[in-house]
Amino acid sequence: MTESFGIDIGGSGIKGARVDIDRGELLTERFRIPTPRPAVPDAMMDVAAEILAKGDWTEGRVGCAFPAVVQHGVVRTAANVDESWIGVGGGELLTERTGLPTLMMNDADAAGIAEMRFGAGRDFVHDGVVLILTFGTGIGSALFVDGHLYPNTEFGHLELDGHDAESRAAARLREDKQLSWDEWIARVDRYLNHIEDLLWPDLIIFGGGISKKSDKFLPKLTLRTPIVPAELRNNAGIVGAAIAAVEGMP
Ligand code: BGC
Repeated sequence: MTESFGIDIGGSGIKGARVDIDRGELLTERFRIPTPRPAVPDAMMDVAAEILAKGDWTEGRVGCAFPAVVQHGVVRTAANVDESWIGVGGGELLTERTGLPTLMMNDADAAGIAEMRFGAGRDFVHDGVVLILTFGTGIGSALFVDGHLYPNTEFGHLELDGHDAESRAAARLREDKQLSWDEWIARVDRYLNHIEDLLWPDLIIFGGGISKKSDKFLPKLTLRTPIVPAELRNNAGIVGAAIAAVEGMP
């Protein structure tokens, strides 16, 4: 068994667990601590270190899924975290605190790695174009071509009807703007129709916490592309980051 530790940093919570990366399964409970406000590097890495301590992880690799563009380990954008993250080598920062080798990567890319290997994308792992979208605080995207990841696609920020798509169709808008299911579904449908016209994927995987309610909305979408719910749900980011920490980026 190959073990590693995955941490999923989100706008509202920081979660982590030990992972058996050969089976894609968590080996401990999922430790969760609310994301500190303001969401600045030092405070957030303190929380990440606390999660490692809760999981008793004192040796071995750590993978961190982060909700922004992370180019070669350096955070480049900050849509849903504090702007002081821009330019920070997030993995190095956690390594300074813990001494553990840490890889930081985009959260949707991490979720995509897990879905391709152990979830809804497993039949396309060598062949085909798969787009994984995660709907939560923002909209994350991961694009796989014949099993290879094209990192840091930011399709959540496509312009749609003059708006940033994420500001129209992210899952949190249902609460923030008190949208009815039908109103939100119409926006998601508009967004997905646009994206399938641009990318022509073979499969779209619908991820994020809301995917557990997928029977409420997937049947109502009017797409030509097959679309399926993510299977690893809330664990995808943790599992994918843990895999990448050991194997590098696919
Ligand atoms: C960020 C992406 C991230 C997504 C989901 C977006 O606002 O730009 O990098 O993957 O949110 O967290």
